[in-house]
Amino acid sequence: MKTKEINLVIIGFGVIGKGFAEVLADKHDFLRANYGVDLKVTAICERDGSVVCKKGIDLDNVVELSLNNNLKAHENWTTLKSLDVINKIRSDIVLELTPSNIETGQPGLTHIKESLKRGMCVVTSNKAPLAVEFSQLQKLAKNSGAELRYEATVGGALPLINLRKHALQVNNINSVQGILNGTCNYVLTKMADEYVSMDVALKEAQNLGIAEADPSYDINGIDTGAKVVILANSLLGMDVSFKDVAVTGISDVTTEAIELARKHNHVIKLIGDVERLDVSPRLVPINHPLNVSGTLNAVTISTDIARDITVIGPGAGGKETSSSLFSDIIDIIRSK
Ligand SMILES: NC(=O)c1ccc[n+]([C@@H]2O[C@H](COP(=O)([O-])OP(=O)(O)OC[C@H]3O[C@@H](n4cnc5c(N)ncnc54)[C@H](OP(=O)(O)O)[C@@H]3O)[C@@H](O)[C@H]2O)c1
Repeated sequence: MKTKEINLVIIGFGVIGKGFAEVLADKHDFLRANYGVDLKVTAICERDGSVVCKKGIDLDNVVELSLNNNLKAHENWTTLKSLDVINKIRSDIVLELTPSNIETGQPGLTHIKESLKRGMCVVTSNKAPLAVEFSQLQKLAKNSGAELRYEATVGGALPLINLRKHALQVNNINSVQGILNGTCNYVLTKMADEYVSMDVALKEAQNLGIAEADPSYDINGIDTGAKVVILANSLLGMDVSFKDVAVTGISDVTTEAIELARKHNHVIKLIGDVERLDVSPRLVPINHPLNVSGTLNAVTISTDIARDITVIGPGAGGKETSSSLFSDIIDIIRSK
């Protein structure tokens, strides 16, 4: 098979960036043999500078340095910031993997816009830019002729947007709902299984590294709301943004309410209802496919032909989420 070289730039080298790099190091030869592509990372940008190497960066080495908080010791470390790299270094695909700021969409929003303006395709796991300016970004991508792909923004490893694109083509999607936040699901599961308060369950989630030090985006339902926006626009053809979603988090859910639900053979889950643009704690029958435990995510897509399809799996994790990033990358390469 003839091999095509594809240059990648990674912006944001945290959990997802490193997870992606580790999987690419592992799967590089597999991708060459099966898809005829030689994926080469030519730049990795962090907040205060970048590693730049046109020949391709040794990924094992860069992951090790980053895990030791020593990326600056890399022989190709430069003070170039992410926007300098986007403007100066031509790549085929920019991977935008910076933190999500749901209020502003930044810094990812600018990274994505500038990359698309230069005609470079973007693959992102960053939900905020899409929750804030979904239709504007789609228009920009269309006008620039570059693709913007975002499977990893919702449900981590779960195939949802690409499932619709590649396996549910003739279906009319009537509704989409599900559990889109692993932290909330972990906390609610722990409260139900061990009859502990939310504070105790949350503390344990933080100790295990499941919940952020500041878990308010998760607990207040904001993270789920942003994902509802992305699914509404991409699966249900709506044109909405975060302000259109009614959001109630789980902070008022008590152990007593969970116990009462259990007596009636139900559990309480934080459900993102995409059709209704609503996020709220809801009663779910114990034998329903959306009754998944721990940090799992689960989404039911209801269609006219295939009927209900439920996808369950890890909604987070560096390596797990890279599966979605690769799905988008391979799609872009195939369409070129
Ligand atoms: N973690 C998951 O399982 C998961 C799953 C699905 C989607 N996501 C989404 O994927 C994105 C990345 O998540 P993550 O867990 O990898 O976050 P993370 O561990 O916080 O990593 C983000 C990285 O981006 C860097 N960064 C911040 N501002 C930057 C800038 N202006 N230019 C270049 N780099 C910058 C950060 O540097 P500093 O450390 O200096 O701030 C950090 O190294 C987020 O939007 C998140 O919501 C995460």
